[in-house]
Amino acid sequence: MSLASQQRPITIQDIQGYKARGERFVMLTAYDHPTAQILDQAGVGLLLVGDSLGDNVLGYPSTVPVTLDEMIHHAAAVRRGAHRALVIGDLPFMSYQVSPEDGMRAAGRLLKEAGVTAVKLEGGRRCAELVARLVDAGIPVMGHIGLTPQSVNVLGYRVQGRETSGADRLLDDAVALAEAGAFSIVVEAVPAELGQRITGAVDVPTIGIGAGPHTDGQVLVINDVLGLSTGPHPRFAKAYADLRSVITDAVKSLSAEVASGDYPGPEHSY
Ligand code: KIV
Repeated sequence: MSLASQQRPITIQDIQGYKARGERFVMLTAYDHPTAQILDQAGVGLLLVGDSLGDNVLGYPSTVPVTLDEMIHHAAAVRRGAHRALVIGDLPFMSYQVSPEDGMRAAGRLLKEAGVTAVKLEGGRRCAELVARLVDAGIPVMGHIGLTPQSVNVLGYRVQGRETSGADRLLDDAVALAEAGAFSIVVEAVPAELGQRITGAVDVPTIGIGAGPHTDGQVLVINDVLGLSTGPHPRFAKAYADLRSVITDAVKSLSAEVASGDYPGPEHSY
């Protein structure tokens, strides 16, 4: 049974089964209740409340300013709208980098206060100890390697792992995360061939974003998929709709009808 057709809530074990059977799956970001409901009912099995909340919804220039309280607020709304999909919440910048204890407390708040099932964090081998401790405490963890937007001020928004040394480091990061107990790993903005090598090197599912066609799953930011984003788009950000135009046309029609007196009509009045 595919993730899209499964009626009962999706579990971590279901996701892992997909790699075992070679079935590809989709994860999408969601930041609010109505979007979560639509995606859940459309059969999307994994909803990521990403810290891309910052640049996609809150108007920040990057993910760096996003706070844990903001993540919890939005993750709780998504969780209330998702009845089947597995909801994963991002640990925001500086909620886990200083000490594993910070990371444990932040992850605990996301599970207890927002109701997410799992957390995601950025970083490879350097996060392995925290991943192991979280899993040991009963908190499923999704890793995230390659382009890690929380490190934009060090890395920029550049494709990672183009040279052999960088590629080897990312392979080592993926293996370290899997060995520490991560249940899946997001791989962002790496050459397709490296996405394939990482996917072959670990038993847990990889979920690519700009990592080519060979990862076990694909993740995209919902604002990109729906055509709501502005500014320069990364190459992988394929739009499947143009909601900016739909919304613009709708509100222009409303404004025109109010100006002409056509709205509200008798059917909209008491
Ligand atoms: O924050 C986010 O939306 C992400 C995805 C792009 C993987 O980390």
